[in-house]
Amino acid sequence: MSDGEVFPVPKAWAQKAHMDAAGYEAAVAEVETNPDAFWTKVAGRLDWMTPFTQVKDVSFEKEDFHIRWFADGVLNVSVNCLDRHIAERGDQPAILWESDDGLMARFTYREALAEVCRIANVLKAKGVKKGDRVTIYLPMIPAAAFCMLACARIGAIHSVIFGGFSPDSIAGRIQDCDSRIVITADEGLRGGKIVPLKRNVDEALKSCPQVTDVIVVRRTKADVPMTEGRDAFLPDLKQGVSDVCEPEPMNAEDPLFILYTSGSTGKPKGVLHTTGGYLAWAAYTHELVFDYRPGEVFWCTADVGWVTGHSYVVYGPLANAGTSLMFEGVPNYPDHSRFWEVIDKYKVEIFYTAPTAIRALMREGDEPVLKTSRKSLRLLGTVGEPINPEAWLWYHRVVGEGRCPIVDTYWQTETGACLASPLPGAHPTKPGSCAKPMPGVKFQLVEADGAVITGAASGNLCITDSWPGQMRTVYGDDQRFFDTYFSTYPGKYFTGDGCRRDEDGYYWITGRVDDVINVSGHRLGTAEIESALVGNENVAEAAVVGYPHDIKGQGVYAYVTLKADVHPTDILEAELKGWVRREIGPFAAPDVVQFAPGLPKTRSGKIMRRILRKIAENDLGNLGDTTTLADPAVVEDLVKNRHGA
Ligand code: WT7
Repeated sequence: MSDGEVFPVPKAWAQKAHMDAAGYEAAVAEVETNPDAFWTKVAGRLDWMTPFTQVKDVSFEKEDFHIRWFADGVLNVSVNCLDRHIAERGDQPAILWESDDGLMARFTYREALAEVCRIANVLKAKGVKKGDRVTIYLPMIPAAAFCMLACARIGAIHSVIFGGFSPDSIAGRIQDCDSRIVITADEGLRGGKIVPLKRNVDEALKSCPQVTDVIVVRRTKADVPMTEGRDAFLPDLKQGVSDVCEPEPMNAEDPLFILYTSGSTGKPKGVLHTTGGYLAWAAYTHELVFDYRPGEVFWCTADVGWVTGHSYVVYGPLANAGTSLMFEGVPNYPDHSRFWEVIDKYKVEIFYTAPTAIRALMREGDEPVLKTSRKSLRLLGTVGEPINPEAWLWYHRVVGEGRCPIVDTYWQTETGACLASPLPGAHPTKPGSCAKPMPGVKFQLVEADGAVITGAASGNLCITDSWPGQMRTVYGDDQRFFDTYFSTYPGKYFTGDGCRRDEDGYYWITGRVDDVINVSGHRLGTAEIESALVGNENVAEAAVVGYPHDIKGQGVYAYVTLKADVHPTDILEAELKGWVRREIGPFAAPDVVQFAPGLPKTRSGKIMRRILRKIAENDLGNLGDTTTLADPAVVEDLVKNRHGA
């Protein structure tokens, strides 16, 4: 197979980057020959209160399963992200903020530290202690980063929930980690529209009686209902509070945060990351992949409600003494030049976004890009889903004027930070490939039965050894952690992704091989959407699959069987889409609802998703063997009534 154009490493990059091709080979070799020395350097970039003497202590084997890194070291994440930069860079902006409505704010390291300490003291006054879980449901405002760091300062575990999630989703996450305290805002503002954050929290808390305190950040200053004795505005709580707060000494393996993510089955998993390994990995990859130097203006467009926002809006850039731009808005408001105008306004040097945004903007033509300068840009990045070569080339030629390398970064919520990406000074780029694993990350392709694949071929992507940013468990469910990631291929971490390796040893992620779909870079479990659908009184059964979507990457295709006396109507179709919006969040709403008198099942009652996927993809010549179906006629009906058929 030909992989199309290859873009060489520009000479200036090879000369100046943190890591060139030889440096990459040397690092990969050192991981083999002297792993402790290699990993000690990776973690040595952090300031430790008590230096670690143990490095890696890991077994993926069932009998002795454990993952520990730098386990006797003691540190504090907020000190590493703030205090240690004050002497040299106290007046440098740590966070720049562009609001939805075009206002600008900046916080220097000194100001950020003071604010984080105040919030930390507010939390302490509320009785929050080391190990307590704090739920954060905020818009993309600097306070979100400050609240995360305030938790880290006192050793509380934050659980950030993306502002697009519904009250039901919030409640499930609060209950799962038994969080007693919630930080939210009066309202959010996105694309000129109000997001009723406080109202959503109020709704969620009807089923979370354990929550004693709700801290409300002022964003729009709208009048919102406040529950006496439970709710308070942050500005009021901060009155007279000290801007000094002693950092809690944390063991490297103490939890830093929980972040809920969708899996192929069951309710969302609380992915748990710890202190030392996570921060070291976020900082190391941020420096290497983006060839980052302190003070450069770095813009990652991800929301802090997703892992990308955790690692590359907050923790990675701040650990590296960076200037991180937070953006509250959306790419198409007030018009399609917004991203590029913001780049000019803040002289952004490194820009990191999702393929879905690139595809949506590409559709608007070159003009909205070309009317801006973008001359500050020197590097572009993508994350979250495979990027089609057409979008990659447009990003490279039009946005980056052919002068900015593109780093296609592949990773997962579970992996803490980047797993694979071209390094701009080391690897020629190929549109659509995430190139090579980070030094220390050991990829392996296997057949479905586990047989190891070598050379240029496709298979399921596993990782054979640990890296410091690896998740440590599913909160409260060690067994589920092991079963989900380490039982399919014993002794290995299974990513859930399919992948091809080419003749140059480059990796090409082909997408999930489980029942997880990726809609506009948002990860969704089909089982979750199905469970929302069957919660509707009209629905008897539902099966959800992904299908290729020009802009979103994948769209949500729902097959729905109605209860016996319910008739399929357009109104009901719209109602079900709205239902999922409200139950999970707007981004999970089905693009297509197809009413089906029956679903294709095996004689043992298992839904044959393979067939449903083919029909949704309109790959009708390829339905495969349908003879094992309990009722083959079901498929004929599905094909005949296919949406767009
Ligand atoms: C899944 C993880 C990466 C953090 C944000 C998403 C897909 C991610 C790429 C990429 C192809 C990618 C994978 C992965 N994915 N990055 N560069 N190329 N696919 O994290 O929500 O945990 O989703 O996103 O399928 O498993 P997430």
